[in-house]
Amino acid sequence: MTMLSFASNTSTVDKKPEDRAWSVFPRGSNGEFNLPYELTRVIEHGIGCELWDVEGRHFLDFSMGWGSALVGHARSEVVEAVASQIRKGSNFAYITAPSLQLAEEIVQVSPASDQIRFCASGTEATMYCQRLARAHTGRTKILKFEGAYHGANEIGVTSLFPDKLVNFPEPDPSSAGIAHSVMDHVLVAPFNDLDTTRRIIEEHAHELAAVIAEPLHRCLAPVDGFLQGVRKLTEVHNILLIFDEVVTGFRLAYGGAQEYYGVVPDLVAYGKALGGGYPIGAFGGKSEIMELVGEDRLGSSTYVWTASTLGGNPVSSCASLAALSVFRQEGAYEKLHGLGVYLRTSMKRVLDNIGIAGQIIGDGPLAQVVFTESTDPVIDYRSTKKGNTAANRAMMLGLFERGIFLNPMGTKLYLSLAHSESTCDAFLDRFSDTLHVLRENGTL
Ligand SMILES: Cc1ncc(COP(=O)(O)O)c(C=O)c1O
Repeated sequence: MTMLSFASNTSTVDKKPEDRAWSVFPRGSNGEFNLPYELTRVIEHGIGCELWDVEGRHFLDFSMGWGSALVGHARSEVVEAVASQIRKGSNFAYITAPSLQLAEEIVQVSPASDQIRFCASGTEATMYCQRLARAHTGRTKILKFEGAYHGANEIGVTSLFPDKLVNFPEPDPSSAGIAHSVMDHVLVAPFNDLDTTRRIIEEHAHELAAVIAEPLHRCLAPVDGFLQGVRKLTEVHNILLIFDEVVTGFRLAYGGAQEYYGVVPDLVAYGKALGGGYPIGAFGGKSEIMELVGEDRLGSSTYVWTASTLGGNPVSSCASLAALSVFRQEGAYEKLHGLGVYLRTSMKRVLDNIGIAGQIIGDGPLAQVVFTESTDPVIDYRSTKKGNTAANRAMMLGLFERGIFLNPMGTKLYLSLAHSESTCDAFLDRFSDTLHVLRENGTL
């Protein structure tokens, strides 16, 4: 009889990390978007806003775990909280003292949330919001804004990076494997265009369960009155408004986009920064909507199934409670906003000094460069797409080679509480060097 061996594969020890990664992960990536083989890196550890790979290379991190480590990597409060829980067990798939305390804190800070439930990711959180909206209204369609990402669920990836600019409200699947029937239930509108959004909502109100929005749409801030207008329209037509606060939650303000932009939705999804770098998701809403998940209602036509094995696990909950205590410290949001303004203003100065046309978009501790000749403000997916996106990718690769770790798509830069003006200055030097090279080689 052949015995299965679970021994570690010692034959990999002599192989280069990039070879090992490319042999077990498609394109050498766990879904972080494709870096070329020669730039494939394996991270060993991170502290604050610095990273080191297994071969000892050093990076300044402007991705911060895609924004999940807003407190900074290995922040002491988070490390201690996790360490103190870890010996007490990591998951019971049941309410624990930390998850209860965390739920109470979220409900207090999130005006939309009378009640919440935990899950393990932002993808799950927005999926449950969509399902709740359908069950509550008895309608099936969801309107999303073109270019918005709501996680890897079916609607989250619809019209995410459309090449074909189809007529609104027609959706475009940005991933294969999505059933055509799903597309029948998605409507797409342009962010920041209240007139077109109004037209679509009025035409489809009878079949619309919800409008889902990233209040800060990728890195695009809402123009004055847009979110307020969408709120009013959804109220008038009894359509639920879902805020995907996976990025904005606890980042733009302690009360997230609800506090920062002053608009309260009916349902809200959280993830990323809430977890202090640990896996988390949460969704909340008004009691009359949230009660649809009550398991005593199983069998009723409006019962909504939710279940997440690791949702609300005590380790993530402890990390989250520690992260929230850091966010509540005096001056945390002033620092995050101050750094964001500093980075965006300085990046624009670098572009101007070299004579490269472009705009720096973002709000709070987020920034993104759009290489565009247009002086019209970049306000939606289509105006972003007019930019030279190949240059974004070339810029990203150039920065990566110069020790800046960032989203391989070359889009959002995430700052954190561990960043400082001097970290931004170190970034700006390399940003400038990279752009000079791109100018010289004709990319820009
Ligand atoms: C706005 C938004 N919603 C949802 C998600 C999905 O979160 P997760 O990756 O935790 O599933 C993301 C992730 O980047 C996001 O940016």
